[in-house]
Amino acid sequence: MNKTTLAMLKELTEAHGVSGFEEEIQSVIKKHLPSGTKIEYDRLGSIVCKKEGVKGGPRIMIPGHMDEIGFMVKFITDQGFIKFSQLGGWPDQVLLSQRVVIRGSKGDVPGLIGSKPPHFLTAEEQAKVVKKEDMFIDVGAKDKKEATEQMGIRVGDPIAPESPFGTLKNWQLLVAKAWDDRVGCALFIEVLKALQGRRHPNAVYGVGTVQEEVGTRGGQTCANVVEPDICLVAESGIAMDVPGIKPEESQGKLGGGPMIYVLDGGMIAHRRLREFVVGVAEKKKIPHQFGLLERGATDGRPVHLHARGVPSIFIGVPVRYIHCHAGIIDAGDFDHTVSLMVETVMRLDAKAVRSIGGE
Ligand code: CO
Repeated sequence: MNKTTLAMLKELTEAHGVSGFEEEIQSVIKKHLPSGTKIEYDRLGSIVCKKEGVKGGPRIMIPGHMDEIGFMVKFITDQGFIKFSQLGGWPDQVLLSQRVVIRGSKGDVPGLIGSKPPHFLTAEEQAKVVKKEDMFIDVGAKDKKEATEQMGIRVGDPIAPESPFGTLKNWQLLVAKAWDDRVGCALFIEVLKALQGRRHPNAVYGVGTVQEEVGTRGGQTCANVVEPDICLVAESGIAMDVPGIKPEESQGKLGGGPMIYVLDGGMIAHRRLREFVVGVAEKKKIPHQFGLLERGATDGRPVHLHARGVPSIFIGVPVRYIHCHAGIIDAGDFDHTVSLMVETVMRLDAKAVRSIGGE
């Protein structure tokens, strides 16, 4: 992985963009797009980035969602503590004492997720996970007036985790928040860059969608903008190569290459498209692994059901500790995923797309 890509991943993951509040991510994407990319939008804040190879060629959509899971201000107590709602699915046990940033009307306000101190819990309470409803964000305000008037916090303000980008001792292992799905945004940007100056037999649409984590909403509207013939969903996969997981629960591991999902909670990979993609990986000797996710969906769900149906597949960069404050990816897996997507795109000509769609 080169330094430019590393710097872009840092910028994308550190940016603040929970579901419904993706503007900052949209501007980071625009900054990194290759010149000559044509830009369109839906009306919810998604961005559609087009690179045409040949006129009238098949339309290949590569959606990566811009939103990350986060929170929203729900209520401000008289003492100046912030009660919150979640945007996307957070497990309760990863939240306590994490740092967050509230994007208020007077700028960003740092805070910490707190709860009743452990010393004051009964033995029964200590044995249980503290529920989100019993947590609050401490911004250090002395009362409601300071939180609202001085700090500018209002009901409805978005809240994102604070979690700086870094690496482990092995610099190839990258640690950040929001890999789900800034890694997907980075994937389509890199694919568009790799296609610069190359003839490809189609038009490629890298799409930064909004509100995926609350029900794949931008994926639905963007399918109408793109009218795709094929969809390669650029996502985070789930690496489960950690203690406590049985091999049959997940095959995804860091360093194993892109995860090709045969099934998720919203879509079965299109059989012929799956064979096509696996064939490309085998031919180009790109390491890859299969994934199967019984719960949870991607933007593939609305896209593959668009119009008369769009052959679609979900391809993920394996991430450890997804839907937490920080996760780990392997830079090599990212690079291999870009290669797999680029090589697939190069072969998706009108004839191939017709035979996959099987009309
Ligand atoms: Co995702």
